[in-house]
Amino acid sequence: MPAKWTLEELTPGRTVEATFFPNPAEATEFRLRATHLDGRRAPKVVLTNDERVVAGVPCLVQVVAIHKPDREDRGRIEVEYVGKAPFKIEGVYLDPVVSKKLQVLLEAGLNILLDGPQGCGKTVLARSIADSLGMEFVFFNCGAVVEASDFFVSIQVKASASGAPVTDFVKTDILIAMEEAGDNPERKYLVFLDELNRCQESARNALMPALDATRRVFHPIENTFIPIPDNVQFIAAVNRGREFSGTFGIDAAQLDRFAPLQMTYPPPKAELDILSKRHPSISVANLQVIIDVAHEIRTAADLPGTLSVRATDEACVYLEHPLFADDGKRSLPEILKTSFCGRFPGSWDDVTSDAGAVWALVRKTLAAAKVPVPDDAPAK
Ligand SMILES: Nc1ncnc2c1ncn2[C@@H]1O[C@H](COP(=O)(O)OP(=O)(O)OP(=O)(O)O)[C@@H](O)[C@H]1O
Ligand SMILES: [Mg+2]
Repeated sequence: MPAKWTLEELTPGRTVEATFFPNPAEATEFRLRATHLDGRRAPKVVLTNDERVVAGVPCLVQVVAIHKPDREDRGRIEVEYVGKAPFKIEGVYLDPVVSKKLQVLLEAGLNILLDGPQGCGKTVLARSIADSLGMEFVFFNCGAVVEASDFFVSIQVKASASGAPVTDFVKTDILIAMEEAGDNPERKYLVFLDELNRCQESARNALMPALDATRRVFHPIENTFIPIPDNVQFIAAVNRGREFSGTFGIDAAQLDRFAPLQMTYPPPKAELDILSKRHPSISVANLQVIIDVAHEIRTAADLPGTLSVRATDEACVYLEHPLFADDGKRSLPEILKTSFCGRFPGSWDDVTSDAGAVWALVRKTLAAAKVPVPDDAPAK
């Protein structure tokens, strides 16, 4: 936890980052309030009336004055707007060019389609966009959607007092967010439609017009159309891995309602950074071997090229466990046989299958890294 600021540090003119929210205090002349500056707690409440500051959106502000510096329990730090906070997404590697495009799309409030292979970070990215930008995050998995109304209500059958079954409409998190957003225009909502490619095409078709300029959806409980408030932004994720190509099925007109952003696996250096933070007890040399093998598999011409960061992370979970850690890198062949080959069709010891081809790559890359591989493996 970073230490609290002292008043001496917050000299007038100092520029800091803050996120403001409506000031709950009654009888105040200040509309907006923050409690932290650059992520550190402020010694007094931070207040502003600057019209350029938007509630919930991080921004850079400058200290204008400190009122009642001698009183512990009273006073305020008054600030004014300097500019937008630098765009940063915590905890997720994002290609710098994709990051720039993402910033533009978020600022414009456009619907965004994250398109990338499995386990390349689409879901964590959406979640951390919401965290970083102070948005309410609404996660919705589209995999179970059969009809358009499933986006907004789920139907539950319950027993009535007499025991007879009655159906009840239960609002989904999307519908709850739409209603809340209308009531709270100062808050921003990010609705994440995960696995959009997996829902029934007819249901998706019915949702699409809602996402374009008409921005209204049918409220199945109130039996009327309700507007999608401007403070709701949609991000959808689709996965075009070989496994899913049959179900991708989003036609051009549907796709056109989203600004597409292509994502790929983090480059080896970035993946090393991700994994070394998560698994600090594993040596950099061993992490590097795992990542090198993964990179070989992802870039192999004759393989589907989809080995997720979940797979490299899982290999690390094995390797750091006391049951495997004692053997150090000697455990790697066995671990990768499971965590890497096991994700492909076929069997590691069948050279004609994808899993067998992956095993051959694992052996080759481990041998180059001078990791002993037992001789009993058939692949050469
Ligand atoms: N670019 C990245 N930066 C940080 N972590 C990542 C990144 N890519 C993947 N990961 C890690 O890998 C795991 C899977 O990521 P995530 O669930 O976001 O993938 P996804 O693209 O949504 O996959 P799927 O298509 O299967 O839903 C998570 O533990 C995540 O932290
Ligand atoms: Mg996902």
